[in-house]
Amino acid sequence: MSIKSLAERYPVLEKTVPYVELGSWPTPLEQLPEISGQPLLLIKRDDLSHPLYGGNKVRKLELILADIKRKGFREVITSGGLGSHHILAVAALGRELGLRTTGLFFCQPINDHVLKNLLLEVEFGTEMHFVRDYLGVALNYIRYYLARRFNPRRKTYLLMPGGSSALSSLGYVGAVLELQAQLREQQLPDPAAIFAAVGTGGTAAGLLAGIALAGMETELHAVRVVPPALMKRKKIVSLARSSLKLLARRGADTGEAAAGLEERLELVEGYLGRGYGYATGAAGQAIDRFKEVAGIKLEGCYTGKAAAACLDYCAANKGSERPVVFMHTASTTHQDCDRAETEPKLPAEFRWCFTGEPCGRWCTLKGFDRSFCETIKPSGGAEKEK
Ligand SMILES: Cc1ncc(COP(=O)(O)O)c(C=O)c1O
Repeated sequence: MSIKSLAERYPVLEKTVPYVELGSWPTPLEQLPEISGQPLLLIKRDDLSHPLYGGNKVRKLELILADIKRKGFREVITSGGLGSHHILAVAALGRELGLRTTGLFFCQPINDHVLKNLLLEVEFGTEMHFVRDYLGVALNYIRYYLARRFNPRRKTYLLMPGGSSALSSLGYVGAVLELQAQLREQQLPDPAAIFAAVGTGGTAAGLLAGIALAGMETELHAVRVVPPALMKRKKIVSLARSSLKLLARRGADTGEAAAGLEERLELVEGYLGRGYGYATGAAGQAIDRFKEVAGIKLEGCYTGKAAAACLDYCAANKGSERPVVFMHTASTTHQDCDRAETEPKLPAEFRWCFTGEPCGRWCTLKGFDRSFCETIKPSGGAEKEK
């Protein structure tokens, strides 16, 4: 289980924190060949966390799905962008536990990666609905909530986009203890910095709480890949604090860890580009470097941007003796679907994504953040994935 290292340190958690073991742990910690002048650039391969669909969601879902099963829910509704890794992971892992899953999708710039993910959703058997924007998500959550309220036999769990919560972040608290044990095994000092992409914040919050709990002299560099309105520094700190409180409530002695959160967090700005899901030149170059030097695949929405920030940091800290750790948070274990075979099975409301036609519907995202809709162009709007 991903919180094994946590439970080894606090055996009481075996009884007080429900979990279901789904992933392959520990994920490997590998040394990258010199990419950017940093002699010790390590990569934590959470991309390999599950054979069907890996990435950072697996650590979260071991806790979330256990909670869902324990409470007797049979169906999970969740939401995300058209290329959502979260909805994919919920579909893949939920199916493994016999849960029905439904995904509510809002717009994001379309590229090859997004299209491949949409096809994979079909393959994983999730029920798919295109709800356009956040307003559509909110209205649908209300609809499902009311349906459940008036029909108690309908056991539907409403899971927020990204699945970030005090509970699910414990998966990444455990990841830090797992990492610390691997560093000790390899006789390496605590890293100067850990790099990870930040979207809804649960991964970063767990890492931050874990670093403080482990007493590591390490800074978390959380690379923002969503607009500033959606992610603030205080949100990560407050979620990390809630996770530590939850641990304490469940019987773990977290000591003074909560006091050491602020100073260990660096929210890294400047790598978002035009908006969420947009390709950037820096991310493209980082994707190419990782591929060439280590044969490791990144994507452009999260890991490419975080890797770009990590490489810039390494270049600026060339003489440092201490390692830098890059968290690879996007699945590389899944098999892409055959497009000709799968596309016809896609619900009609998603077809426009593949034709390059605009979706043609009114949408509040245009007013809130124009970047969500701009690449959906009438003529072959797909941006080439690097
Ligand atoms: C590949 C990848 N990396 C990182 C993140 C960020 O995780 P979080 O939402 O916990 O901040 C996500 C979120 O969807 C993701 O898909």
